[in-house]
Amino acid sequence: MEKFEIIATTIFGLEEVLASELREIGATDVELLNRAVRFKGDKAMLYKSNLLLRTAVKILKPIHSFFAANEQQLYDNIKKIDWSEYFTYNNTFAIDGATHSDIFNHSKYVALKSKDAIADQFREKFSIRPSVDPANPDMRINVHINDKSVIVSLDSSGSSLGKRNYRLAQSEAPISEVLAAGIIMLSQWDKKCDFIDPMCGSGTFPIEAALLANNIPSGRNRNFGFEKWKDFDEEIWNNVKEEANSKIIHSDVKIFARDSDNYIVDIAIENAKRAGVQDLIEFESVDFFQTSHTAGKGIVVINPPYGERLQVDDIVNFYEDMGSRLKHFYQGCDAWIISANYEALKFFGLRTSRKIKLFNGPMECRLQKYELYQGSKKASKSGTQPSE
Ligand SMILES: C[S@@+](CC[C@H](N)C(=O)[O-])C[C@H]1O[C@@H](n2cnc3c(N)ncnc32)[C@H](O)[C@@H]1O
Repeated sequence: MEKFEIIATTIFGLEEVLASELREIGATDVELLNRAVRFKGDKAMLYKSNLLLRTAVKILKPIHSFFAANEQQLYDNIKKIDWSEYFTYNNTFAIDGATHSDIFNHSKYVALKSKDAIADQFREKFSIRPSVDPANPDMRINVHINDKSVIVSLDSSGSSLGKRNYRLAQSEAPISEVLAAGIIMLSQWDKKCDFIDPMCGSGTFPIEAALLANNIPSGRNRNFGFEKWKDFDEEIWNNVKEEANSKIIHSDVKIFARDSDNYIVDIAIENAKRAGVQDLIEFESVDFFQTSHTAGKGIVVINPPYGERLQVDDIVNFYEDMGSRLKHFYQGCDAWIISANYEALKFFGLRTSRKIKLFNGPMECRLQKYELYQGSKKASKSGTQPSE
């Protein structure tokens, strides 16, 4: 099958993880970009990337690139593309604009100009134009501008790949599915030792961990934009799905999802049911400060409250107590904490062995790793120094 260029977009900080996911599924010419990875693949690879990549947000197929120094040039070049090759006037379409340019400084305006060019082309050719449907279009088009350089792509994903369709109910501050999967991969969890989320909220980390450990395709409960394309090949798509399903395993790794809020634990259970992984996770409604992990090595991932609704003293005490609980009751584990509250993180009281900058939506966050050594000597050595 013919290979072409494909771009997988992601969240800041997950580019490397996404590149390894891509290499693992057989993508070639993998190249890191800013919040994206470029690679080559055929139609089966395009379908596979949508179905399997846990840290991708969108899979784009570039169809045209050009330079534009002003709006007219943008409009003219978009109009030069033969759009009837990709969809008909009976279809609906939508444009996502993204711009990093002094000339084009409003992404909405870029989208509007591009939409006009496409609608005008159809009207001139067929005396009828396709309608725009921003929510659920048949064809989603991405126009990306960097300075004067424009890349026009077909968006093969449709809605963001973070929408896995299991988290219909959510707690107040859920982490994105893509970020959760990325953090689990960054933690280098071997999928053999216990995985513990003691503040699980809507269950995103444990659900993503269960999907990963059992090789369950992250996109198995959803549809994709490419299924509505003119060149959609159902046979290839069925083969891709069959191959992915044949790789699902039944891991007996232990995954624990806990939260002090009863109601939230019920939400997490509902979400896990929808993801088909309820039986692979042990849920419990319990206060973190009453818990421990004594069964040897484990990976603890915590997305604690950032403290928007707490007094400064309370949040400082909370983070201090969290560090202390981990130090004394989770020995032998690696703990990974993701928080946007840098001030509170300083009071964790444990030495940080890794710090990674990430974004949870628009919020800058830090992922910090703490190695909780077994044995009092090492524990006190690594445990008394506050992190910077
Ligand atoms: C930021 S939310 C976690 C969001 C979660 N990662 C998700 O994707 O939905 C923080 C969670 O910590 C829980 N929490 C707060 N204090 C706790 C405690 N002492 N023990 C256990 N859970 C606690 C809250 O109930 C809340 O669900």
